[in-house]
Amino acid sequence: MKIGIDKIGFYTPPLYVDMNELAEVRGDDPAKYTVGIGQSQMAVPPLSQDIVSMAANAALQILEEEDKQKIDLVIVGTESGFDASKSAATYVHQLLGIQPGARSMEIKHACYGATAGIQMAKGHIALHPDRKALVIGTDIARYGLATGGEVTQGAGAVAMLISADPRILAFEDEPAYVTHDIMDFWRPVYSPYAMVDGKYSNEQYIAFFQEVWNLYKGKNQRTLADMDAMCFHLPYTKMGKKALSQVLAEADEEKQAELLAAYEASILYNRNVGNIYTGSLYLSFLSLLENSTELAEGDRIGLFSYGSGAVGEFFAGTLVAGYREQLASADYADMFENRRKISVAEYEAIFSHSLPEDGSELAIDGSEDSSAVCLSGINTHKRHYFVK
Ligand code: COA
Repeated sequence: MKIGIDKIGFYTPPLYVDMNELAEVRGDDPAKYTVGIGQSQMAVPPLSQDIVSMAANAALQILEEEDKQKIDLVIVGTESGFDASKSAATYVHQLLGIQPGARSMEIKHACYGATAGIQMAKGHIALHPDRKALVIGTDIARYGLATGGEVTQGAGAVAMLISADPRILAFEDEPAYVTHDIMDFWRPVYSPYAMVDGKYSNEQYIAFFQEVWNLYKGKNQRTLADMDAMCFHLPYTKMGKKALSQVLAEADEEKQAELLAAYEASILYNRNVGNIYTGSLYLSFLSLLENSTELAEGDRIGLFSYGSGAVGEFFAGTLVAGYREQLASADYADMFENRRKISVAEYEAIFSHSLPEDGSELAIDGSEDSSAVCLSGINTHKRHYFVK
């Protein structure tokens, strides 16, 4: 039985900052941001969007009534959870109208949470092939104003329906994974901002990739020649390229050119959204599907997931016959087109405006946010949402 990604949906908030403008205000050469780091635009969530509303907005794009009746597992992977106890998945389950006989949970492991969710969903569907699982990666990446990591901030969510007989990607082979306890990126519960040892996290990302890639090759008797595209967790678009460059020499020139062309297609969305932590790898996969003109049914896609702290995992799947019918390029073009560019000053004002933490009430005016699901306010430490 084949298990894999049956549907995939993506949401990013309606505001963004141009990285050339951010570089200018920060006194940096814009080429450092757009070329050296590889980011062109950074998504900015207004107060009306948080990880729950973004997750629901991503999932609403793909779910039909039949799916809502068959889903009995809802997993939200997030690094930016706002509650140390209540799971974001319960809000999302309710907002989407999924039938109540479901398990719902939030998984935390830096940028790895959605991959952990997918592997859990795969096991669930193997035992219950008639059911479906919803896995969502949703995050707001916050390093702080004028910090080294600021240029890699972003916001968004990717929702995936995992099922038997999937219509997009069928998982195959044995995944390869490793855990090592390191301090490259973390966020204590008292801090709204991630703490990061930037250079060390880059080195560890590459070391983890090399380790799981070698493990994967050994476990599955495959080589780089067996891959038609490789997608990477993308904290910024240059990062995956650095990792890919480590292994390119294992293939002939033709394969190298094919993998590099696929890589360019796989970073287009991420370049204009920024880091969305748990969803970044899957946004890159979606970008590849929507933007590559070379992909064909049956092609094998390798996926490298990395969650600081740290876990690395490499797994692969093949594109299912007819997968293009599940794509929605025009909708994503509209989503990007309809975003509003804000000035650096506006971004700084939004960034500095946070929800009350003392139990007081705040009603959020979502009239300028046309997203289907918005955060409407907070009172007595409880968040409230509305579906338009
Ligand atoms: N034109 C073109 N490229 C330029 C440039 C210019 N004017 N100025 C600098 N660059 C290049 C640098 O050569 C470097 O490229 P390289 O990495 O290929 O050597 C790149 O831009 C970044 O410059 P650097 O000086 O290293 O930037 P930084 O000290 O501000 O830190 C990060 C960059 C990514 C470490 C920082 O943004 C960060 O901490 N990000 C968050 C953590 C993260 O995303 N980790 C990834 C693993 S999960």
